[in-house]
Amino acid sequence: MLAKRSELFKASDVRELLKLTEGKKIISLAGGMPDPETFPKKELAEIAKEVIGERGDASLQYAPTAGVSEFRKELMSFLQRKDVKVRGDDSVIVTTGSQQALDLISRVFIEREDVIVVELPTYLAALNAFTLSHPQIVGVPVDENGMRVDILEKELKRIYGEGKSVKFIYTIPVAHNPAGVTLSIERKKYLLELASKYDIVVIEDDPYSYFVYESGVDVTPLKTLDDEGRVVYLGTLSKILSPGLRIGWVLGNHYVIDVLERAKQTADLHTPTLTQYIALESIRRGLVDKTIEKAKQVYKIKRDVMLDALTDYMPEKTWWPRPVGGLFVMVFLPSLDVDTRKMLPEALARGVAYVPGASFFANGGGWNSMRLNFSFPPPDKIAEGIKILGSLAKEKIKEPKGPITPESFYTM
Ligand SMILES: Cc1ncc(COP(=O)(O)O)c(C=O)c1O
Repeated sequence: MLAKRSELFKASDVRELLKLTEGKKIISLAGGMPDPETFPKKELAEIAKEVIGERGDASLQYAPTAGVSEFRKELMSFLQRKDVKVRGDDSVIVTTGSQQALDLISRVFIEREDVIVVELPTYLAALNAFTLSHPQIVGVPVDENGMRVDILEKELKRIYGEGKSVKFIYTIPVAHNPAGVTLSIERKKYLLELASKYDIVVIEDDPYSYFVYESGVDVTPLKTLDDEGRVVYLGTLSKILSPGLRIGWVLGNHYVIDVLERAKQTADLHTPTLTQYIALESIRRGLVDKTIEKAKQVYKIKRDVMLDALTDYMPEKTWWPRPVGGLFVMVFLPSLDVDTRKMLPEALARGVAYVPGASFFANGGGWNSMRLNFSFPPPDKIAEGIKILGSLAKEKIKEPKGPITPESFYTM
């Protein structure tokens, strides 16, 4: 009875995994959940009470599809304070998490067989959203410095040489999910040069640039370096306040935002008014900035625990890019004969969950890798989990072959 399209709504590995681990004593390095310790519960409760008590007529009412205007204004100044350039012809739309933005972008940009470019690996739920529109997906591998723009250039030459064009390049430049890598400033500029040369839209997804744990890392958004209005910038409060509020946004040329607004009208009319007002007050009162500072301290400690444990317990020649920020480390085991999907049930039986890396590779590669989250579990559990995974990996890999990186899967 269902439409053919319904077959494309695949359950994500992450969700299936979370279901598996529910109610069990499993160390979950799988999801991408913030540490609840970082939620400013007391302050949010006060704000929620005030917002309903004093501004209930507005905050409990329907709102414009693009978002509560007062919140959109506040959001613009918040973004400008975070060095995101707002151009004269830009507009902003509030979305129900940035996941909704990815879904709307898929629907308004992609026609069947259109070519889009993503990183190898990339964010799984973005891949799922794009796949619903039946594009041809071209993957460009990342290394420690983010997307390999030399390979991007080669791919663009090939694609345009075949008489096709690219609809957009989707990138997570800072503290990448899942790879943890950050695009260098030189590569950012080159990516924009290439986008300009071929006249391609760039979708910049930026949930994590607030969490950079080291000084001297360039976190300038592509949006800020863009002189041509071709970057569409996505953000979210999910990691810097609370994912339960479901507040995301898209900043970009007003023409694109208008189209997204019309698409959103069909999806959900508008993002909940109440959480928009809560978000507005949270930004205005400095609660978001306070939460960022707290979370940064908590996550830096956890990241370091994970990196130390990886050094101590993983087989030699295992490769992982050192994340300067974000919530994840992606680990590539040193053999192409090991498949982390097949290894997962054994890991679960020993009490640890992770996400197999192949889920994040648009071309089916990356089967030797796994994404490990350090924001949610407590530090001692992170170390224990990595120790268990390390000994399992050592059992599987008798002779480590050498570092295997995303590039190894590029030509597949
Ligand atoms: C790269 C990236 N984009 C988008 C999202 C979606 O975030 P949300 O819908 O909670 O705003 C996430 C969440 O983990 C993410 O990692």
